Amino acid sequence: MTSVLLVDDEPSMREFLRILLAKEGFRTVTAVDGETALAAVKREAFDLMISDIRMPGMGGLALLAKVKEQASGLPVIMITAFASPEDAVEAMKHGAYDYITKPFQVDEIKAVIRSAIASSTTAPVRDTAEPFAGMIGNSPEMLKIFDLIKRIAPTHANVLIHGESGTGKELVAQAIHAHSNVAAQSFVPITCSAIPESLIESELFGHVKGAFTGAISAKAGLFEIADNGSAFLDEIGELTPLIQTKLLRVLQEREFKRVGGTETIKVNVRVISATNKDLEEEVMAGRFREDLFYRLAVVPIRVPPLRERKGDVPLLVDHFLKKYSAVFGKDIGEISTYALKVLMDYDFPGNVRELENIIERGVALENSNIILPDSLSLSTHRRQRLAREEPALPTPITLSADVPAEEEIYALGLEEVMTRIEKKMIQQALVKANNSKMRAAELLRISFRSLRYKVQKYGIEP
Ligand SMILES: Nc1ncnc2c1ncn2[C@@H]1O[C@H](COP(=O)(O)OP(=O)(O)OP(=O)(O)O)[C@@H](O)[C@H]1O
Ligand SMILES: [Mg+2]
Repeated sequence: MTSVLLVDDEPSMREFLRILLAKEGFRTVTAVDGETALAAVKREAFDLMISDIRMPGMGGLALLAKVKEQASGLPVIMITAFASPEDAVEAMKHGAYDYITKPFQVDEIKAVIRSAIASSTTAPVRDTAEPFAGMIGNSPEMLKIFDLIKRIAPTHANVLIHGESGTGKELVAQAIHAHSNVAAQSFVPITCSAIPESLIESELFGHVKGAFTGAISAKAGLFEIADNGSAFLDEIGELTPLIQTKLLRVLQEREFKRVGGTETIKVNVRVISATNKDLEEEVMAGRFREDLFYRLAVVPIRVPPLRERKGDVPLLVDHFLKKYSAVFGKDIGEISTYALKVLMDYDFPGNVRELENIIERGVALENSNIILPDSLSLSTHRRQRLAREEPALPTPITLSADVPAEEEIYALGLEEVMTRIEKKMIQQALVKANNSKMRAAELLRISFRSLRYKVQKYGIEP
């Protein structure tokens, strides 16, 4: 018999849930506080734990953490107050399976409980030690994201991914699904902005035959196709108010009707959404429903732009070099140090997608077996724009900055490189010596005659 551990300090709440669970045919063990609950978990194997968050003594979150140490596979549903959505966020981050809000909606509770219990009997948590297939990165920012994905993927929490275009939001969504307990089920993506409003309702919820002109046959929508799996709603910020309202209702009630239909369809779908807009700002401006935002962003994940994690550039370059060498049947395994420096100095307004395109073009254009700066076609107007945005400071001339990179040395030849360096050194010494050739010669530890000769030879103006 399925057994549920119920933890709440409020007798009326325990009683209400105990009756509800009994009607569902579950055996219920109740605990009045965290300590009692923990002792019960140590004593007995449960199929589900339902716990209030705010309790005197050990709070629900502390209990959750301890229970996860004892029985990591036990699904936990937390009870949160409607007024404090941040509690729900915390609970999901700490590995709760889902949450229910007070005041209760009986149907909602039943649906959550059923899917939680089903999850405890499905596949064990996947081996999280495996790398994130297809996702490259070793910057602290990305490692943090990988870690967060590992922790929240096995829960049922809805996730909102936000970040600039090309940062890898879709890959994050796929990684969450791949690390979830429903990885074997479908991952169904939909790009909200690509579909006109007149069609999006039918794309999301399906339609019956004859629902509208052109509906020549019945069609299942995204939510039906993704049942028991994950739905990926890309560019969620583009949804119109009408569709926002309909989506909210489905997320709350876990059921809907096809367009033109009368039959109620129940689904269990984890919603992962993505946006490159600042959705909180959209909420503030009244363009996005706040209640929908909280439903979608139980766990928010921000994917930082590439310029904030330059440390990932070399690894990504390596990865794309391999990829496009194979595509073009070339053997380009390396990038020159100077070319890499050019990339490290670039700010990638198009993020990882732009870097990928640059390397793809580079591999296509390169005739040697190493990527040289010339095959990096960073568009010049971009470079100029960069130069305008970040004017180069009049930095003092230093030796290391004046030694050109390897490729440049080979291109110019040693004589020319040495000449240029010598000229710079003399100019620098003259500045320091207030144009006194005598003093400059002293600084450089060469004779006055030798300095005068070089000044004439290089045409250095005082
Ligand atoms: N960490 C990464 N490792 C390897 N490839 C990456 C990584 N991040 C992004 N990419 C690649 O960059 C491209 C853009 O990624 P993706 O489509 O996930 O970005 P996005 O954030 O969804 O962009 P948009 O907002 O424009 O839809 C894809 O080809 C993807 O494979
Ligand atoms: Mg995308």
